[in-house]
Amino acid sequence: MSERGPQVSIYPGSFDPITLGHEDIVRRALLFSDRVIVAVAHTATQRKQGLFTIRERVELIRHVFHDEPRVAVTEFSGLLVDFARTHGARMLVRGLRAVSDFEYEFQMALMNRQLWPEIETVFLAPDVKYSYLSASLVREIASLGGDVAEFVDPAVLDRLQRKLAQK
Ligand code: PNS
Repeated sequence: MSERGPQVSIYPGSFDPITLGHEDIVRRALLFSDRVIVAVAHTATQRKQGLFTIRERVELIRHVFHDEPRVAVTEFSGLLVDFARTHGARMLVRGLRAVSDFEYEFQMALMNRQLWPEIETVFLAPDVKYSYLSASLVREIASLGGDVAEFVDPAVLDRLQRKLAQK
C-alpha cells in the first residue's frame, strides 16, 4: 500500500467473453496494484452488440478469479471516469496488443483525462502469445465451429459452447 492509500486499478472492457489475454492483463496489473476492479461496461455505453449478458460476463470473470481476493468484478453504466471516481480509483488499465489498438486507446485515454484530469491510463502489453487474441475473434471462431480451447478458461469454453448451442 502506498502513502496515498491502496492503489486501486480499474480494468474496464466488454469482456464478451473474458479471454486468456484479459486474464494475463489482470495478473500483470496485480503486480503494481493493491486491488484490481474488472469493470464490465453495460452494452448501452458501447458501440457493439454482445453475445453474453452483462451478468453472465461478470459471473465468468468472477469464476476465473475466484482464488484471487484482490480482484473484484462489477458491472458499470455511464461514464467510466464517474465509475472510477466513485471507487476511489485513479488508474485505468488497458491492454495494448498491437499498433492497431493504439489510436483508439490513445483517444480514449486523452478523452478520459479531459473528463477527469486526475485519471491516469496505463497500457500493458500482454504475453506475446495473446497479442493476436480478441474476444470478438473468439466469438466468431466458436460460432463457426472452430476450436477456441487454447484462448479461454475451460469454464468460459463450456459456457460459450452451451450459449452457441442455444442459438
Ligand atoms: O473492451 P472494449 O469494448 O474495448 O472496452 C471499451 C470501454 C468499455 C472501455 C469503453 O467503451 C468505455 O469506457 N465505456 C464507458 C462509457 C465511457 O466512459 N465512454 C467514454 C470513453 S472516452
